[in-house]
Amino acid sequence: MSKLWGGRFSKATSEDVDRFNASIGFDCRLWEFDIEGSIAHATMLGECGVIPTEDAQTIVNGLKEIEADIRAGKVEFDIAAEDIHMNIEKLLHERIGPVAGRLHTARSRNDQVALDVRMYVRAQIKSIDQALESVQRTLVETAEKHLDDIIPGYTHLQHAQPVPLAHHLLAYVWMFQRDRERFEDCYKRTDVMPLGSGAMAGTSFPLNRHRVAELLGFSKVSENSMDAVSARDFAAEFLSACAITSMHMSRFAEEMIIWNSREFGFVELDDSMATGSSLMPQKKNPDVPELIRAKTGRVYGDLMSLLTVLKGLPLTYNKDLQEDKEPIFDAADTVLMCLKMLSLLIGSTTFNTERMKASLKGDFSNAVDLADYLVRRGVPFRSAHEIVGRIVAYCIENGKAFEDLSLGELKRFSEEFESTDAVSSVENAVSARNVYGSTARDRMLEQLAAAKKLIRASDS
Ligand code: ARG
Repeated sequence: MSKLWGGRFSKATSEDVDRFNASIGFDCRLWEFDIEGSIAHATMLGECGVIPTEDAQTIVNGLKEIEADIRAGKVEFDIAAEDIHMNIEKLLHERIGPVAGRLHTARSRNDQVALDVRMYVRAQIKSIDQALESVQRTLVETAEKHLDDIIPGYTHLQHAQPVPLAHHLLAYVWMFQRDRERFEDCYKRTDVMPLGSGAMAGTSFPLNRHRVAELLGFSKVSENSMDAVSARDFAAEFLSACAITSMHMSRFAEEMIIWNSREFGFVELDDSMATGSSLMPQKKNPDVPELIRAKTGRVYGDLMSLLTVLKGLPLTYNKDLQEDKEPIFDAADTVLMCLKMLSLLIGSTTFNTERMKASLKGDFSNAVDLADYLVRRGVPFRSAHEIVGRIVAYCIENGKAFEDLSLGELKRFSEEFESTDAVSSVENAVSARNVYGSTARDRMLEQLAAAKKLIRASDS
């Protein structure tokens, strides 16, 4: 096949080079954005008188027909046409003849591909935002059912202090909220229209770049043609936001895996979310959270591969930039799939709240509350800490829990103890923490209300 750029060549490209060079195998996914961008470019070229209006119209109509054909699955892309941009131009040629040759006036594939990738990332950010919101909604709905169920809160995976299960679940709502904000912030730098930068130096034709931006819903146009064709930091930011979101999902998944173990027995995954073993008939394995945890690795890989591609590239466009696409596509697909699975997982999991509460028995996780009792009676915190530490040691030695201690025993450690009520129940320990952001019921309701505000009214 003759190449769209074949003029200066006397020999055909080797087939091996065609295969090596081609990106159509993966950048075909950009077809909608490529056509939309070309329609906007052609429209503007016609409006500005750079090409005759009738030609612009013929091009736009041709592109719309191609769009319909691709949507209907009638088009097969050609590897010899290298990438999505030239494939579509070639299809246009076949459809409308030589007029198609006017489309690429004042445009290069360098600004064209920058445009397509920006449009793709914008669309993915919107989808990811919705998926994150769905996860938040499921967490909030689940939390609302467990405001009064008390579980051990952990540090170092050791019982630390009792907390409502709702508090634990809502912690993730805030992580995912920051993820949404990171994507939103990245959107601002993605939402910049590069067309009109040409190959790298701009163009001598009187284009109306703002018109193209308006047609494509961009809020800004790029300021520097060299930057516009070579910048991919918006994509690195996107992948970085994907990586952080994956890390958050992975932390949740890890907790589900641990909580689902026989030792914890805190949750029971729904049968629809688990799989069996080919050998051990009794097994019910948490494959879904395990895969969510593992897929974080590939998203980190996507980020590293793009950063590495970009590092050391001289200005402006280099073919290396073609390697931006697969990591971007892979990370977006992976994050979207995992977010969907996470919503399903959370919504279908049974929390064994009795077992969670029972695990608090005799675990000394109300030790801080015992120390706080002494502090309220004027004992400096450091001394109170020391006293309660000694009580814990005494209990361990004598096989007792705090609740088993008599007033006499307590008084042996400090004269300030006036009643065994100094040992608070887990419920009292939870409700005593009444400062903004902590666990008392009113604070929890406040937090829940704030979390609900992050979620738009459901469409359904
Ligand atoms: N397929 C190319 C890419 O993804 C399009 C731009 C090609 N530009 C060029 N001068 N060879 O980056």
